[in-house]
Amino acid sequence: MGLADGIGNGGTAAAAWAELRELRHPALAALFAADPDRPAAMTRRIAWPMELGSGAETALRIDFSKTHLDDAALAAFEGLAEASGFTAARDALFGGGIVNPTEGRAATHGALRGSGTPAQVEEAEALLARMGMLVEAIHEGALGEVRHCIAIGIGGSALGPALAIDALARDLALVDVHVVSNIDGLALEQAFRACDPETTLIAVASKTFTTIETMTNAASALKWLADNGVEDPDGRVVALTASPEKAVEWGVDETRILPFVESVGGRYSLFSSIGFPVALAIGMDEFRAMLAGAKAVDDHFRAADGRGNAPLLAAFADQYYTRLRGCQTRAVFAYDERLALLPDYLQQLEMESNGKSVTASGAAVDGPTAAVTWGGVGTDAQHAVFQLLHQGTHLIPVDFLVSIAPGDDLDPAHHRILLMNCFAQGAALMAGQPSDDPARAYPGDRPSTTFLMDDCDAAMLGALIAFHEHRTFANAVLMGINPFDQFGVELGKAIAKQIESGEGDFDPSTKALMAAAGLE
Ligand code: F6P
Repeated sequence: MGLADGIGNGGTAAAAWAELRELRHPALAALFAADPDRPAAMTRRIAWPMELGSGAETALRIDFSKTHLDDAALAAFEGLAEASGFTAARDALFGGGIVNPTEGRAATHGALRGSGTPAQVEEAEALLARMGMLVEAIHEGALGEVRHCIAIGIGGSALGPALAIDALARDLALVDVHVVSNIDGLALEQAFRACDPETTLIAVASKTFTTIETMTNAASALKWLADNGVEDPDGRVVALTASPEKAVEWGVDETRILPFVESVGGRYSLFSSIGFPVALAIGMDEFRAMLAGAKAVDDHFRAADGRGNAPLLAAFADQYYTRLRGCQTRAVFAYDERLALLPDYLQQLEMESNGKSVTASGAAVDGPTAAVTWGGVGTDAQHAVFQLLHQGTHLIPVDFLVSIAPGDDLDPAHHRILLMNCFAQGAALMAGQPSDDPARAYPGDRPSTTFLMDDCDAAMLGALIAFHEHRTFANAVLMGINPFDQFGVELGKAIAKQIESGEGDFDPSTKALMAAAGLE
């Protein structure tokens, strides 16, 4: 069973969209006035045990009350979810069905944390155990002293590891990991400067093991080891890939190849062996904690229905703003330094997944698909881009993320000010403020969703990632599109190859640029 065709395909999903387009849009203030229990009614809580066997829980609360979703909208979106075959699509996702019809594949990232068919979960556990053995062997010195790791990959083979390492390896990195993605040699040179070649491991992360940026960077990293007197540079390479045969061809010994399965998409691969640099930095126990947080969200997503399902509810809000209110962007502001790279990660997850113009069966969509995801960290962003959020002409739904427990050990004033500012921004966007002076007036009625984390630890990061994977999937189901292919990235790659080979007929502008840069 694949994804149902929602948009532009006639049928009941189109009828549900027609009903949604008829909705009235009451102001946020009116929604709060009509229902004093709105904050509780519109907050979802996902919790998991703090430690195995302990009664205490860690929770992620998501407050959707400052969105414009009212009862009528929620009911209509529930109708859309039903008409779009949400339940069957979700069953297909976790049951190994072909949810990526253009490539004839399942999408089995759930199995990486135990949410999939028994066979998929068993295979994922075996691969994880293999990765764990290598990580622990390296920590115990099996490859000699390893103090640094240069993790080379791009897109989904870099953004997740970079986010997780930045979030979780600040206080205590067992190995100092530098994630390098860009082909611009400056990126790799910066990593070289920070590492001692004698004690550096090179992790080459590439699902396909053919990506030109990654393979070029990997070759330069090996040369750097050799140029600096490392006796067996090849012996310092670990490959993380779904194409182990290509890694062998490239010269990596099989004992240092950590495979993952083809049905795990690049932007969904952090919990596969692509997470090896993360495990190297934080240890396997913390890596497994990340998986446990993701599994808690999987369990919620599989069990809850309609508006009770937090990722689906987030997708209702996304669809409401994008398709019914004309919002072209969605902003994400983490009031937490540890999540500074979350917007980058979400950009690939959401825009590469749902930035499409056709449905899963190839029909043209009849409305916008993914919004442009962007964002930054609070409070920094308040002093830079929030002017436009408060008084600009764009309506931009905002996600705020903040942790109740501080990540720092400084004067508690720091964290109190951080929390206060986060909450103040959501309140100000919604309330606005009239003024006789037009330049000083705030229109208000601007939406936000707040993710309140008990703590921003490994399990919470896993939970946030799984939440956004499922939100992205739910959005795709509601729009009837396939979130698991990315053909839009191919044309540029092909033209770059033509430029390299000198073959191909280029437009006059491109020819002139090539000539000016000596690329003819
Ligand atoms: O060009 C886009 C893309 O295919 C992404 O989907 C992927 O995450 C990235 O390139 C890297 O691909 P690979 O892991 O195969 O090197």
